Amino acid sequence: MILLAACSSASRDEAATTTTMTTTTTEVEAPATLRGAGDEAGVRVGVALPASRLDDADATALAAAEFSALTPENEMKWSVVEAERDVIDFTAADELVAFAEQHDMAVRGHTLVWGQAVGNGMPDWLADLPPDEVRAEVGVFIDEVVGHYRGRVPRWDVVNEPISLAGPVLDDNPISRALGPDWVAWALDRAHAADPDAELWINEHSVESLPDKADALVALVEDLRAAGAPLDGVGLQTHLFSGAPPEPGAIAELVGRLRALDVRVAITELDLPLVDGSTLETQADGFAQVVEECLAAGCEEVTVWGLDDSASWLDAFLGRTDTDPLLFDEDLRPKPAHASVREVLLAAA
Ligand code: G3I
Repeated sequence: MILLAACSSASRDEAATTTTMTTTTTEVEAPATLRGAGDEAGVRVGVALPASRLDDADATALAAAEFSALTPENEMKWSVVEAERDVIDFTAADELVAFAEQHDMAVRGHTLVWGQAVGNGMPDWLADLPPDEVRAEVGVFIDEVVGHYRGRVPRWDVVNEPISLAGPVLDDNPISRALGPDWVAWALDRAHAADPDAELWINEHSVESLPDKADALVALVEDLRAAGAPLDGVGLQTHLFSGAPPEPGAIAELVGRLRALDVRVAITELDLPLVDGSTLETQADGFAQVVEECLAAGCEEVTVWGLDDSASWLDAFLGRTDTDPLLFDEDLRPKPAHASVREVLLAAA
């Protein structure tokens, strides 16, 4: 609750000549939504949405009310935009960008280069091409997508998952092999040329729980900085598969190391499933721990990977239907984790 002293006119029902100013005390409720709380704290609060969700009026109303940023879950991936070689289709991505613009949500473009995910990020057809053709195709794809959204998408996850699965080395995949050891810098340079005003990010998973992998990410950022690559930010996906938050302090330490290298930092794909005995309450505490550490160490955005428990990628990934890893239940009702995240945001305001 915030108390405001306000100066108001008390004369509406009185004679016009008796207008007086009185000082009153007005109680202003703290924002009920994550978006409102995030605005107070100067933090973007984002959600990943698939275009298929835009047909659900309740879901879209909730997303627009609660979140100030939007990440297309799959629609900007190369495997979707150019499933067939030389046939570019922005239809689904355009729908999501238009929705975001309509509701003043900042779009995180996701993602231009994801070499680990043949068929799920990188199109199947690319894996069969010789290296020189792969290199040419990667460049053209970056030009086309970033160019298409120039001025409308303020930040891009240019390279997704640059570090090998468990670390501690750069990933070895068809794109990295074709582009050579400087492949991450190459992709950043290409994206910068396509939209010099866009923020360019790399995005990585499991670094909060694998120290060697975290070291590899920090080393990559140091290398990119030393090479003068146009890197603006680092996204920590933060899929907490185990159903528990990382060791206390792990997020704060990693965010601090990255911020010391003068890059922006965000949590970009947060979810925390109900597995291994976790409850709605431990889930709420886990979300709060992660968000609190991140904000205290200088994160500027927290994005959750999905709107509600009816539609999470984790169900398929973990082979069950009840992972319930998000902030709203399957009937779109806020869960305890919604309240705990909101409290952390308000405390940071
Ligand atoms: O759209 C087709 C549908 O037509 C088909 O019938 C069905 C049968 O399998 O597949 C559907 O495509 C699926 C797609 O999601 C849309 O639902 C793909 O199989 C499935 O692999 C794909 O998974 C996505 C995954 O990335 C791979 O691209 C998840 O939705 C998405 O949440 C996930 O997101 C990634 C981030 O981009 C990067 N970080 C990790 C995160 C989780 O894997």
